[in-house]
Amino acid sequence: MNLDVLKKQFCTYFGNGGEILAFASPGRVNLIGEHTDYNGGFVLPAAITLGTTIIARKRNDNIIRMRATDLDVLVEADLSSIENYRELTWGNYQLGVASELLRTGIKVPGCDLLYHDTTPHGGGLSSSAAIEVASALCMYYLATKHMPDMRDMAVIGQRAENNYVGVNCGIMDQFASALGKKDHAIFLDCKDLSFETVPLSLGSVRIVIANTNKKRSLITSKYNERRAECEEALRNLQTVLPHLTHLGCMTSKEFQSFSGAIKNSTVLRRAHHVIEECERVKQSVLALKKGQLTRFGQLMNESHSSLRDFYEVTGPELDTLAEAAQAQQGCLGSRMTGAGFGGCTVSLVENEAVEEFKKNVGTIYTEKIGYAPTFYVTDAGDGGRML
Ligand code: GLA
Repeated sequence: MNLDVLKKQFCTYFGNGGEILAFASPGRVNLIGEHTDYNGGFVLPAAITLGTTIIARKRNDNIIRMRATDLDVLVEADLSSIENYRELTWGNYQLGVASELLRTGIKVPGCDLLYHDTTPHGGGLSSSAAIEVASALCMYYLATKHMPDMRDMAVIGQRAENNYVGVNCGIMDQFASALGKKDHAIFLDCKDLSFETVPLSLGSVRIVIANTNKKRSLITSKYNERRAECEEALRNLQTVLPHLTHLGCMTSKEFQSFSGAIKNSTVLRRAHHVIEECERVKQSVLALKKGQLTRFGQLMNESHSSLRDFYEVTGPELDTLAEAAQAQQGCLGSRMTGAGFGGCTVSLVENEAVEEFKKNVGTIYTEKIGYAPTFYVTDAGDGGRML
């Protein structure tokens, strides 16, 4: 939907007049570095070209009114009792952001907001981070008339999700949504949020995302369980390495010398994944810089195997998609992306092989799992911005 159409729709809902502004922020695909962000490790996500657009106008009172183009719902919230809307099924991400901005002293004003989302909901492409970062940018701008440091908006989005929505996610999704750059990936060190944009010189290769379309259940509790296992690994390692602050700060070599401190075999496998995955991210950045896409593809395949065998967050749907993809001609590499337990895979596929790839992987998946996946061929897009 183009901007003029959205603005017209906004006026139909909320009336004409005043200064009408527009903001956007994308979803993300993580190319490699999974379940490393909350361990202070490395990730390599890219923003995608699907995301959230907000049409916005300031009001002269303390009320936020929100609608979405694909939902028949009007949410009205009073900023002076912002903590009361946590249970909303739609609107809680946005109000969580308002709550976090208020907490940092930003005087979020009353406003009318129309949301238009193109990222599939619950599909593992961070539709929630797109909403959070776009909302943070929009509300910050309405309050101050200035553009914020987008790194701060990423942190506000993450806090909204942690504190208001109650999902204990890391920083990767919001960071990629806030700071994505067209045709680049973001090499982020999650221990201190230092980052570098890495050109994605893919040539004739495309990024193909495949959605398992699995209804995800228990994802939050399983995600939290993995986090707890990593915390246990860190505590065990700190008995021999008292200065170690994050699992993601350990090299593979150090881990070989000190892994004996971890007694529980499950916890040991989780830590093994995190440390090797961080090494793979660093190697991937080197491979991308040298234009070695085949090497990068191998690292993606290794990442998937580790998430299946050591971190155990894949499941039959993701494994079927990734394994079918890896076997196709013209596919350089394929892996699950995001939290796992359903959601999406990401594959690198030669442009001329994409149609055949979708057909073959789709058939194998449908025969085995019983319903079809959805494919998205995407490029790396820009992060949060005013339109
Ligand atoms: C989800 C979380 C991220 C990250 C990934 C796993 O997407 O929101 O913070 O932990 O899972 O890499």
